[in-house]
Amino acid sequence: MNPADPIHVNSVDQTLAFGRRIGTALAPGWVIGLVGPLGVGKTHLVKGIADGNRAAGHPAVEVTSPTFVLVNEYAGRVRIYHLDAFRLLSGADLDELGLEEMIATGAVVIEWADRVAEALPTDRLTITGQSTGETSRTWTTVATGSSAVDWCEALRPGS
Ligand SMILES: Nc1ncnc2c1ncn2[C@@H]1O[C@H](COP(=O)(O)OP(=O)(O)OP(=O)(O)O)[C@@H](O)[C@H]1O
Ligand SMILES: [Mg+2]
Repeated sequence: MNPADPIHVNSVDQTLAFGRRIGTALAPGWVIGLVGPLGVGKTHLVKGIADGNRAAGHPAVEVTSPTFVLVNEYAGRVRIYHLDAFRLLSGADLDELGLEEMIATGAVVIEWADRVAEALPTDRLTITGQSTGETSRTWTTVATGSSAVDWCEALRPGS
């Protein structure tokens, strides 16, 4: 376990900026689990990630909640698979969706990751959001697994 310093933000824009920093560092094989209550800003964090992952000169991709379609894919430097476990019944659904194939061909970002934690690889970043006010949030990143510790290092400001 290697908790990075918590990130405190005061606005949607600052959550997007944190997401962009993640998206800039993102590499194939990364698995990022997003945890936190309804409306804390998990999907907004993914918007930032997709924006930071955008290849130079390419237009913004549209990020929407994959609650109903289960998986959204975004092009960029790295292919991003955006999942939402809110509607998944179990981790077995993740296998059926082809989680292994996704990890082999891109980066996986999954909302409500705590609901299917047992079906996710140990090597992952878990980013937990907490509301501390109407528009203020605290984002805490924890790395589990040896690769994820390196990913976490790549996220530190100034690295
Ligand atoms: N600092 C902030 N960061 C992110 N969202 C914020 C912030 N402050 C206010 N909000 C608002 O909170 C809401 C977050 O919505 P979003 O869909 O991103 O949350 P979510 O965690 O994905 O929810 P769900 O659990 O339904 O998937 C939006 O309405 C957004 O405008
Ligand atoms: Mg969401």
